[in-house]
Amino acid sequence: MRAHLAHLASLGVDALWLSPVHPSPNVDWGYDVADYREVHSDYGTLADYDALVAEARGHGIELWLDLVPNHTSDKHAWFSERPEYYVWSDDVPNDWKSVFTGGSAWEYDDDRKRYYLHQFAPGQPDLNWWNPDVRDEFDDILRFWFDRGVRGVRIDVAHGLIKDRELRDGVRYMRDRPEVHEIFERWQTVAREYEPKPTLMGETYVELPKLAAYEQHLDLVQNFPFLNADFEVDELLPIVETVERSFRAPLWFGSNHDHSRLATRWAGGDERKARAALFLLLTLRGTTVLYQGDELALTDDAVSASRVLDLAEPPRDPERTPLPWTASGEERHEPWLPLSDTSRNVESQRADPASTLAFVRDLIARRKQFAAEPYRTLRSAKGVWAYARGATTCVVNMTPDTAVHEGRTLAPWETLIL
Ligand code: GLC
Repeated sequence: MRAHLAHLASLGVDALWLSPVHPSPNVDWGYDVADYREVHSDYGTLADYDALVAEARGHGIELWLDLVPNHTSDKHAWFSERPEYYVWSDDVPNDWKSVFTGGSAWEYDDDRKRYYLHQFAPGQPDLNWWNPDVRDEFDDILRFWFDRGVRGVRIDVAHGLIKDRELRDGVRYMRDRPEVHEIFERWQTVAREYEPKPTLMGETYVELPKLAAYEQHLDLVQNFPFLNADFEVDELLPIVETVERSFRAPLWFGSNHDHSRLATRWAGGDERKARAALFLLLTLRGTTVLYQGDELALTDDAVSASRVLDLAEPPRDPERTPLPWTASGEERHEPWLPLSDTSRNVESQRADPASTLAFVRDLIARRKQFAAEPYRTLRSAKGVWAYARGATTCVVNMTPDTAVHEGRTLAPWETLIL
């Protein structure tokens, strides 16, 4: 990673969010943390992490940590030594289901002769956020990383931390509880001990009307209704307008490690369409998160059944394949997931001024010129999305056909900045 920082800096990247780096049995690939204050030996040591933070900062890039506060690994020492940190019941108390197994979210523990809650895999017991000691632990964990120079956290399952105290039936009692905002306020207090204040970004799987409440307590909230919408102006524009009406600091993304990459999901492999999507992400008002490979219009790769590692159904491995740095792949040792299609790779696209990588680099540079300007939808022909960012006009042909905007002909999926 340290060897590639200069490349990221040349693109104009200002922060790097890494999936969890902690020791983990990898039941859920790092999202089952066994020790929040260590680095997984596969990646190196704490000293290596410190060096990464320092070197990234030298390139003007911040490091963001993936904080997993909803659950730990069942191999975390807390699970055996501090059972009161978890959610227990003498019998199965409700109808809550596990996201991964589809069965009951309650697992019987032979030693304790009680059931524990796991919203995800049985190896990922949920923490009990009603316990003040759990809150204290995470204040310390945040300080541990902020002291090391981490400038932001992406909060895993942010909407799910607090469960109904009475464990009532219904998913609305398992997630999106109003008391969760108290936890975010508390973390803001911790973050304000640092200068500049680290950013808190939530993984917030809630419907759009509810997302605004999360944005009042977190600095950035991930907008899944946008990611899940079809790539059509009639679907995306109303979401953007709702966000513009009620959000202070919008955040746009179209891919991550849990969802098919935008070049596949939105664009069906069509690089022109993927560029239209990248254009929107990078010219709408707010922060943009790109997932590794988006900048190449990288599609999901094929992962044969024998190489599947993920426990989810369908597996998320196709969108988790490594970034192709070169066409030959000669730089790679055997990667954790196979990489078969290297046709879209960093080396070739860096050498090509007409590449998607060059398109993204140029957009990142240009967006800085109108970053502070408000968004305003402009009148346009059907299928064309035009908007003002102050004195700048952005235009996207959202169709596979030729279109016209103010006398200019746009090729399928073509974008313009005027
Ligand atoms: C989040 C992560 C996902 C993980 C899940 C459970 O949704 O993004 O990868 O499987 O939490 O930790």
